[in-house]
Amino acid sequence: MNILGISAHYHDSAAALVVDGVPVCAVQEERLSRHKGDATFPMLAIESCLQQAGIEPNQLDAVVFYERPMLKFDRILTCALRAFPRSWRAFPTAMKNSLGEKVWVRGIISSQLGVPGRKILFTEHHQSHAAAAFLTAPTRRAAIMTADAVGEWATLSVGDGERMLNGSTRIRRFREIRFPHSLGMLYSTFTAYLGFKVNEDEYKVMGLAAYGRPTLVDQVRKLIRRTPDGAFALDLNYFEFHNTAERSYSSRFVELFGPTRNPYEPIDLDTAEGQRFADCAASVQRVLEDTLVEIARVLHQETGLQDLCLGGGVALNGVANARLLAESGFERVFVPPAPGDAGCAIGAALYCDRIHFGNPDRDVPDHPFWGPWVDGSELARLAREDSHFAVELQDGALIDQIADDLVAGHIVGWMEGALEFGPRALGHRSILAAPHTTEMRDRLNHEIKYREAFRPFAPVVPIDAATHYFDLPPGGKRLARFMSGVFPVRPEWRSRLEAITHVDGTARVQVLEPAMAPRLHALLEAYGQRTGIPVLLNTSFNLAGEPIVNRAVEGYSTFLRCKIDVLVGGGTRVIKRTSATAKTEAAKLKEEVA
Ligand SMILES: [Fe+2]
Repeated sequence: MNILGISAHYHDSAAALVVDGVPVCAVQEERLSRHKGDATFPMLAIESCLQQAGIEPNQLDAVVFYERPMLKFDRILTCALRAFPRSWRAFPTAMKNSLGEKVWVRGIISSQLGVPGRKILFTEHHQSHAAAAFLTAPTRRAAIMTADAVGEWATLSVGDGERMLNGSTRIRRFREIRFPHSLGMLYSTFTAYLGFKVNEDEYKVMGLAAYGRPTLVDQVRKLIRRTPDGAFALDLNYFEFHNTAERSYSSRFVELFGPTRNPYEPIDLDTAEGQRFADCAASVQRVLEDTLVEIARVLHQETGLQDLCLGGGVALNGVANARLLAESGFERVFVPPAPGDAGCAIGAALYCDRIHFGNPDRDVPDHPFWGPWVDGSELARLAREDSHFAVELQDGALIDQIADDLVAGHIVGWMEGALEFGPRALGHRSILAAPHTTEMRDRLNHEIKYREAFRPFAPVVPIDAATHYFDLPPGGKRLARFMSGVFPVRPEWRSRLEAITHVDGTARVQVLEPAMAPRLHALLEAYGQRTGIPVLLNTSFNLAGEPIVNRAVEGYSTFLRCKIDVLVGGGTRVIKRTSATAKTEAAKLKEEVA
């Protein structure tokens, strides 16, 4: 049975194809269209999935959209009417978006793909999040918590899931919290207040939080009140997002926290103003964590289960995830590589397969690599056309060479196999570098990533060496599989891992099992043999404002436009013809030929 899952029209649209109960392909539209956060109908992603599986649209048994457009429309209309006349400006925009795209999804899918309307199905937004979290995790029974800004009405849900011995699957929702009461919206409101982009830059707030102290927690708690039933409610006097699309915080919010940050000015942490912004970030981060931990604790007591599956955009908050693991009572916490809305494409397709059609339970491979493959020979051709130095090497020789490059302080663009699904580069489209010094961090920031100095880089470490360098609690290795947790770097290693150690001594570490990315694992070991420390800095392979690279041509173009020294695609290694290394290597080659 072929089931296509689609998420679209909010931010970061995606498609995923499930064949006979197992995903065969999943990709975000932005990786193909090259427009960051592309929210349009994911036609390129759909084509890519169908092509990869070698099937035509008429061979699809079902196409599942990740939320119920009419319910979402109902929410937008209800909120607009409640807020009238304050909402009259926002109302036409909301109507246009809803009527133009969201409500008529069935018609759009039917006309774009030529599939009959009866084959088009819908899941609820938080059902899709729950399925993406539970059905991709290697557990048979787990509690499930999902939290985001908003879906149709739900903003947070708790429940459980079971893959039963008779092959059937059950996913239940016990309770949900509804819009406008939303942890995601609370965090996004601070994201906007701090001058960052909503729905995109929330991780910057988390990074900034490490520089602040939670001195404003009492003020943040005025915004969010715990209710006797264990839920929470926002005090809407401090917010505007439910009334207008123009501003998410009210003037009372600004009275409470002070003037907003000008997004065009960098945050100077040496000034009182800069420190206030960091304290705001630290305070909302603390309240978010506390609230999630309390809700999860109740869920743990209620279910008595050992495993917790987390879904929704809030599950991208690695600091909160680590606290959930440490304090909620669950022994293991699973976060999928794409817990946000893009991941709902896979969630919707799996939900439909297991629950709607009642197909038998299947294990889903435990990795994030569901996208198109990189072609090393295409990279060699591109580089040679421009007279850059390209060689195709066997695996062992390539690993040795790249390990030497990294030891020499070179920055490496590393592409192999299938593209990651989700926001994080987990070893197939990564920029790799030596993790030891702040100079390397600054070089990457200034010359390649062009991003705020306060944002940390992440490390990757082989699973066997992980606890030697990082202070991982039980269950920490699992949470770090897809870089979903932030953990302390062991104090004795911090001075030798400066480029990946955040100001508070932590790192968003990826713990790598050999089977997940064998070549990267081999590279880490080879690097460890040379330096004594098998840890590399691993950041996503893209420039600021661009999506992560997909094909060889995008990796190559990025390589040309920044100061990456060495580019790897499959078995091909490329260096720039202008670099000193290239000249030495060309001379060496000439000698050998002579
Ligand atoms: Fe969502």
